[in-house]
Amino acid sequence: MAVDPDSFRAAMARFPGAVTIVSTAAGGERRGITATAVCSATADPPSLLVCLNRKTGTCAMVHQTGRFNVSLLAGDAQDIALRFAGAGGVTGDAKFELGNWSADSRGLPVLADAVATFSCDVTATTEAGSHSVFIGRIVELSIGDAEALVYERSRFHRLQPI
Ligand SMILES: Cc1cc2nc3c(=O)[nH]c(=O)nc-3n(C[C@H](O)[C@H](O)[C@H](O)COP(=O)(O)O)c2cc1C
Repeated sequence: MAVDPDSFRAAMARFPGAVTIVSTAAGGERRGITATAVCSATADPPSLLVCLNRKTGTCAMVHQTGRFNVSLLAGDAQDIALRFAGAGGVTGDAKFELGNWSADSRGLPVLADAVATFSCDVTATTEAGSHSVFIGRIVELSIGDAEALVYERSRFHRLQPI
C-alpha cells in the first residue's frame, strides 16, 4: 500500500528538528534557506548531510559552488528562521539583511550568534525526488553557548531540560 505525501508529512512533523540555515555564496550573491533536514553523517571524516529542495536558489548555488555552511540557530532566532523560510516574500540575498551575518574565510555567509557553525565541502550528491541530498565534509566548525531552536508540529520551541 502506497504511503501518501500528507501522511508522510504528518508523521515527520512529530520529529523534532534542530533549525538551521544552510547558506552559500557565489559571484557576490548569497543564498540561504531554513533547513531541518540536516544530520550527522560520519565522524571520520567529520561529515554531515543536508537535503535541499531543487526549486530553491540555495540548492542550485550549492550544486554550482560545491560548498555550504550550516548555522544552527539559537532559541531566540525564530525571526531569522521564518525569514529564511521565505516569510514576507523576501528572497535571495535580501534575506541576509536580518541577523548578524559576515563572510567567513571562504567568503560564505556565517551567522555570529549561531549555536554552532559548520563549513562544508560537498563530497557526494544524490538526487532524491524533489530534493538534492548533499554530503558535506566539515572543514571548519565553531561552537557557541546558546541552546538550539527546535521545530515540531509546525511550531518553534526552545529546549527545556527535564
Ligand atoms: C522549519 C523549516 C524547516 C525547513 N527545512 C527544509 C529543509 O530541510 N530543506 C529544504 O529544502 N527546505 C526546507 N524548508 C523550506 C525552505 O526553508 C523554503 O522552501 C525556502 O526558504 C524557500 O526559499 P526561497 O523562497 O528563497 O526559494 C524548511 C522550512 C521550515 C519553516
